[in-house]
Amino acid sequence: SFRVGVLASGTGSNLQAILDRVHGREAEVVAVGSDKPGAPALGRAEALGIATATFPGAEYENREARDTAMALWLLEQRVELVVLAGYMQLVGPGFLGRFPRRVINVHPALLPAFPGLRAVEQALEYGVKVFGVTVHFVDEGVDSGPVILQRALELPDVTDPDEVRDRLRPVEHDLLTSAVALIARGAVRPDPDHPRRITVKDQ
Ligand code: GAR
Repeated sequence: SFRVGVLASGTGSNLQAILDRVHGREAEVVAVGSDKPGAPALGRAEALGIATATFPGAEYENREARDTAMALWLLEQRVELVVLAGYMQLVGPGFLGRFPRRVINVHPALLPAFPGLRAVEQALEYGVKVFGVTVHFVDEGVDSGPVILQRALELPDVTDPDEVRDRLRPVEHDLLTSAVALIARGAVRPDPDHPRRITVKDQ
C-alpha cells in the first residue's frame, strides 16, 4: 500500500483526519515526525502503533542538519509521500531533494494570498470577506509550490481569528484527506507544458 509520512508541530487535527479517513484505506500512515517533543499529534500516532520521532531544532547545528535527519528517518520508513500537517517550520533543499514532488502542505488561506505564518490574522487585517484553504506541493519558497486543491469559504462578518480557524478546519480536513487519497491513486499529475499547473483526474 501507499506509504505516507506526516510532519506536525501541534494539535494534529489534520493528522487525525488522515488517520480516520485515509489510513488503512487508500494509504498507510507509517511515520509521524515533529519538531516539538510534546506535540499532541505524536500521541495520536502512538495510539495506533505508528512510528514517531522528534527532531527538535536545539539538537541540530542548523535547519539543514535537522532536515537531513528527518528525511533519512522518513526514507528508512520507506515513505512515498510526506504530508506537512501543521508543521510550522520551513523544509529546506536537504529534505525536498530527497522527496522530489513528494511533499504536500495544507495552508489556511487562498494562496498566493497570505503565505507564511499567521495567515488567518493576515487575511483579517487585510479585511477580506472570502477565506479559504490550499493544499499544495512544497517547493523551496514559503507556501509557493503548485496548487493541488483549493476551496473558498465566505465569512463576511467574522472578525475573530479563532472563529475563522474553527470554520476553516473542516475544509482543511476535507481537502487534505482528499489530496492524500488522490495522490495515492495516481490521480494527481503535473501538466508537462505548465509544471505549476496540476491536473487532478479521478478516474
Ligand atoms: C492548520 O490550520 C494548518 O493549516 C496550519 O496549522 C494548523 C494545524 O492544525 N498550518 C500552517 O499555518 C502552515 N504554515 P492541526 O495541528 O490541528 O492539524
